Formats: sequence, structure tokens, C-alpha cells
Amino acid sequence: MAFYLKNKYICFLFLSLFILSSCKNEEKITEEPIKKNVEYEMYQRSEMAGFMNAMYAYNVQLKAQIIAGETPSALPLDLMKLHSAEMSKGTSRTKNWLSFVNVFIESQEVVVDTLSNIELKERYNAAISNCLNCHKTECVGPIPKIKRLLIQ
Ligand code: HEC
Repeated sequence: MAFYLKNKYICFLFLSLFILSSCKNEEKITEEPIKKNVEYEMYQRSEMAGFMNAMYAYNVQLKAQIIAGETPSALPLDLMKLHSAEMSKGTSRTKNWLSFVNVFIESQEVVVDTLSNIELKERYNAAISNCLNCHKTECVGPIPKIKRLLIQ
């Protein structure tokens, strides 16, 4: 009887260990949908996506200034973040990205170059066109939104 009890206890121990480990397994199984949610959130809020939205907001403000006849001279964004910011899962610095990024950075900097001989509106639209050039291959979703930044 004592042996039986002891055996039962061991059985229980093994059983609970099994249940515990199978709970963990279950966690692993349910991890996938949870992970998907996290990925979705990351897609929404990757460092790069956040920076893109900041660039968008900055250019909304530049457009308003230019239309109002002002000469913008400040570039409060660190465009080098384009080289370092972490991107959403499934997004990376492709060959296309690399071929567009520096051209874009330069064109965005030229907008606030008060010594430039090129007309302000032209410089601004060139920067926005470079947003679009990269977006055509790298991230097509925001294209209509970016197009609205162009000054007609
Ligand atoms: C060199 C390529 C490139 C350039 C230049 C570029 N983008 Fe992007 N943009 C991307 C990529 C790739 C993503 C997706 C980033 C991510 O999800 O991590 C993105 C995402 C975005 C998003 C969506 C962010 C979100 O909430 O998911 C907006 C809006 C955006 N860009 C606007 C702009 C604007 C405005 C400019 C120019 C001022 C610009 N982009 C220039 C490649 C570029």
C-alpha cells in the first residue's frame, strides 16, 4: 500500500510535470497568433514607420510655409536615422532602398538651403518626388498620401 501511495505520488508528480510542460507547449502553440499581433503592432510602430510619419508631418508644415511665401530654413529631423532606424518585420534596406535613400536625403536638405538658386517650390517638389520614387518599390501604401504633399 505504501509503495502504491508512493507510486501514485510519483505518478502525480510526473503527471503534473507533464501538464506543466504541456502548458508550456500550449503557450508555444498560442504564441503564434500573439506574435502576429505583436508583429502587426510593430508594423504600425516600427522606429522607421515613426520616423516616416515625422518626415510626413515635417513636409506638411514645409508645404504650408512655402504656400504662405515663407522661406523655411530649419530641418529639425536627423535624416541619418534612415540609415539606422529599425524597420518593420518583412521590410529591409533593399537594393532599391539603398539606391534612393541618399538622393532623397540630399534633396530634402536642399529644401532648406537658403543659398540655393533653384526655386523653392521646385526643390520642395523634388524632395517629395524622391519620397515617391522609393515608395514605388518599397512601400506602396502611403503613395496617395505622399502625393498630396506635392505643391501644384
Ligand atoms: C529610401 C526609401 C524611402 C524614402 C526616401 C521614403 N520612404 Fe517612406 N517608407 C519607406 C519604407 C520602406 C516604409 C516602411 C517602413 C516600416 O514599416 O518600417 C515607409 C513608410 C512610410 C509611411 C508609413 C508609416 C507607417 O505609419 O507605417 C509614410 C507615411 C511614409 N513612409 C512617408 C514618407 C515621406 C513623406 C517621405 C519623404 C519625405 C518618405 N516616406 C521617404 C521607404 C521610403
